[in-house]
Amino acid sequence: MKGSTDIISFFADHIKPKRYLEIGVSQAQTINAVAKCAEETVGVDPNLECESHINKDLNITFHALTSDEFFKKHPDAKFDMIFIDGFHEKEQVRLDFQNSLKVLSPDGWVFFHDTYPPEEKYLSRNYCGDVWQYVWQLKNTLDLKDFEFLTLPWFYGITIVRKRNIQVDFLPLSKQRGLLQ
Ligand SMILES: C[S@@+](CC[C@H](N)C(=O)[O-])C[C@H]1O[C@@H](n2cnc3c(N)ncnc32)[C@H](O)[C@@H]1O
Repeated sequence: MKGSTDIISFFADHIKPKRYLEIGVSQAQTINAVAKCAEETVGVDPNLECESHINKDLNITFHALTSDEFFKKHPDAKFDMIFIDGFHEKEQVRLDFQNSLKVLSPDGWVFFHDTYPPEEKYLSRNYCGDVWQYVWQLKNTLDLKDFEFLTLPWFYGITIVRKRNIQVDFLPLSKQRGLLQ
């Protein structure tokens, strides 16, 4: 199992998403691992061949579409965990993130892959492309009052963005404010 799959499925095992979306499925390594922890899983990849790698015993729906086409067709979808690992180009990753935010539940999580190329040779489209540039810009523009943001510099970089409005879920806001004073 490759390292990024281990990390994403480790988080999924704790998040236990009701609905997980993976943009860019390839040989279905990660989606098959995460689907074991999610109630429903959706994979999107324009390459039809990906479907043959998907574990049919798990609750996974595959769409042979680009991410743009998928978001256009399913504007009302809802996900609590999204993994952006499709086309490694900053403008596409920007669109994937903007579209993800529209379907992300409150307190939802977004993971990006390929955000920390370890050496210059990994800047090619086959590896990280320029995804890292978008994520770096995002770090400086995202309202960190509403989001948490972290880049793990391993396995070509995994960036985690968590939408979060309150510190602890089980306390009403007033009580929580009291605690913070
Ligand atoms: C790095 S692989 C994904 C690996 C997979 N997430 C995993 O962890 O096992 C990238 C995939 O993105 C797909 N892809 C390329 N352009 C895309 C797009 N516009 N929308 C969705 N997927 C795309 C490619 O076909 C390829 O299968």
